[in-house]
Order: sequence, then structure tokens, then C-alpha cells
Amino acid sequence: MKSIIILLGPPGAGKGTVGAELSGILDMPLISSGDLLRENVKNETPLGEKAQKYMDAGELVPDSIVIKMVEGKVAEDKYSKGFILDGFPRTLAQAGMLEGIISGNDILRVFYLKAGDDFLVSRLSNRRVCEKCGKIYHLVNLPSRVEGVCDACGGKIVQRQDDSEDVIRKRLNVYKVLTAPLLEYYRKKGVLHVIAGDTNVEHMLDSIRKIIKW
Ligand code: AP5
Repeated sequence: MKSIIILLGPPGAGKGTVGAELSGILDMPLISSGDLLRENVKNETPLGEKAQKYMDAGELVPDSIVIKMVEGKVAEDKYSKGFILDGFPRTLAQAGMLEGIISGNDILRVFYLKAGDDFLVSRLSNRRVCEKCGKIYHLVNLPSRVEGVCDACGGKIVQRQDDSEDVIRKRLNVYKVLTAPLLEYYRKKGVLHVIAGDTNVEHMLDSIRKIIKW
């Protein structure tokens, strides 16, 4: 039996931030499709080369590429007892792949982090990330102790390439067309929980704690 948690929501809703916290609290490994793709781009792998143009444009990387990447990841021993997914699935085809690896007694929970467009554009414009370890910061809400230097590893804190306003708006539109239909898909399965994404991290974790009860 394994436990699978899916963090679903628009860009900037807090999937990466909450995912990192939950992973520590629940001692469950986190799989972020965005981080895996960025790692491939950084390491100039063939997969990264294919993915980069889609990511820079704020479009989804084709299902065939992402599904293969995530399938390979979840097959690793480390994930046999369960995992938290940030950014996957993002299309009905990806949800179908996941369905294939979930068995009858596994526990699936989907948390939809909900927030409005203008709030998300403003939040993402202030996001910064460590280029070395990927830790997520916010210039106002969650700043690093020393400006530009990661608290966790001392790496350089930078702005993500796809966090310019026009690309953020493109990502929000892509989310509405291709990913939002997953809300209905998981609602029908009775596993969807709605969490306010426009509150502070503690409040979001509190809402999740009421459902998972750690
Ligand atoms: P990905 O990296 O997954 O980006 P995203 O879904 O657009 O989500 P973000 O990472 O932008 O936001 P988030 O919800 O994680 O918010 P965060 O916690 O950082 O994907 C990037 C690209 O990769 C895609 O565009 C696509 O091309 C490709 N891709 C990835 N997965 C794919 C897939 N499955 N299929 C196809 N293509 C795929 O928080 C944002 C900011 O807010 C931070 O500054 C944070 O500090 C702050 N913050 C967060 N929560 C709070 C809070 N509660 N209170 C205060 N501040 C907060």
C-alpha cells in the first residue's frame, strides 16, 4: 500500500513551497516535474534540450516526454511507499498514466491550491529561487536571511526565466485550458480537497493537517 499526494493548482499557488514543507513533515519524498525538467535543462540532457523551448514559452512540455520522465522516477525504490507530486499530473493523459500505477489499496489525496490570477502574477513576480538547491523564496513574504544568498546551501538566488509577467499570464491560460479539467476528474473520484492558496504557509499546512491528521 502506498500513499500518494497530488498538489494541483495554478502557477504560483504554492505547490513547490507546500510540497517541500509536507515532504519534511510527513517524511515522504517529493517529485516536482518542473524541478526535474529544469535539472535536465541545466545539465543539457537530450530531454532538457527538447523541453526548454516549451518551458521558456510558458507552454506544457509534451505528454510523451513528461510521462516517460515521471514513470522512470516513480519506479525507483525510494518511492515504493509513496510520494508527493508537485506539478504532475497536468493533463488528462498524465492523470491516466498515474492511474495505471495506483492499485486498489493505495491512498490518493489531491489538494487543489486555489488562488486568483492577479494575486498569482504579483506573487510570482516576487519569487526567487536558489540556482543550486532550488529552495524557493519570496522577496516580501519569505526572504533569505542575506540578500541574494540561499539560507540552505549558500547558493546564488535568482529569478526563474519563466517568471516574467507575459510568460506568467501565458502559463495561467495554459493551466485553465489543460490542467483545470483535472479538478473535475478528481472531484468525481471523491479525492479532491480545496485549500486556499492565497494565505500564509502555516494556514495552508493547517488546512491540510485537518485532512491528513499528522
Ligand atoms: P512548474 O515548475 O511546475 O511551475 P508552475 O506549475 O507554473 O508552478 P510554479 O512552480 O510557478 O508555482 P508553485 O505553485 O510551485 O508556487 P511556489 O511554491 O513556487 O513548471 C514549470 C514549467 O515546466 C511549465 O510551465 C511547463 O513548461 C513544464 N512542466 C512542469 N511540469 C509539467 C508537466 N507535468 N507536464 C508538462 N509540462 C510540465 O510559490 C510561488 C511564490 O509564492 C514563491 O515566491 C513562494 O515563496 C511564495 N509563496 C508560496 N506559498 C506562499 C504562502 N502560502 N504564503 C506566502 N508566500 C508564498
